[in-house]
Amino acid sequence: QQDSADRDKAAAAAAAVAEVEDGMLVGLGTGSTAAHAIRLLAARVADGLRITAVATSHASAEQARAAGIRVLDFAQVARVDLTIDGADRIDPRLFAIKGAGGAMLREKIVAAASDRMVVIADGSKYRQAIGDASVPVEVLPFALASVAARLGEGAMLRQVGRAPYHTDNGNPVLDWNVTLDDPRAVASRLDAMPGVLGHGLFLDQVDAAYVAQDGVVTRLEQ
Ligand code: A5P
Repeated sequence: QQDSADRDKAAAAAAAVAEVEDGMLVGLGTGSTAAHAIRLLAARVADGLRITAVATSHASAEQARAAGIRVLDFAQVARVDLTIDGADRIDPRLFAIKGAGGAMLREKIVAAASDRMVVIADGSKYRQAIGDASVPVEVLPFALASVAARLGEGAMLRQVGRAPYHTDNGNPVLDWNVTLDDPRAVASRLDAMPGVLGHGLFLDQVDAAYVAQDGVVTRLEQ
């Protein structure tokens, strides 16, 4: 049985999938909301839509292939027409926090290669300003202790049970509890930190968002 947040995720996903046109190369996001988009896109493919895709995680690639979508190796792809992805937080400036599912590095690389990047979310993700979620930081294993020390007490090593979590890229993640009054300053600090491979602050990548609350979908456009 679908709860109302899940129905909203599906409604936001449907709005974004409606943007997909014949011949497009589509970027597939990661997470439970993106999974709805992949399912709905696969239904359109079954109805005759001709597209190819790239995926931001192994899980999304597997879901898409199993549902009949042709998924290319992103390492061979220079640009993408439209990427549809979830977020953990999104605000009216289209600043987003991503990476609760650990895919933020690949997600940002695919978003940066995309002509258009659309976030899909249920209303619980929407805030007047991003800020009350921690920022996931993917770290080169070699740099784990030094990056953790620079980030300070707010940095927690993500774990699965008792073992450190690893991304699809084989790296650990520090979930960083940081004040986001000035997200650009925080992002610049992370971007400049040796050993940080990627992070979940998406400040310049999102072109539009579909946010669904109680079945009503609102589009935010840059
Ligand atoms: C994956 O690492 C994330 O960036 C997801 O896009 C984000 O966590 C949203 O996931 P849900 O749609 O499952 O909330």
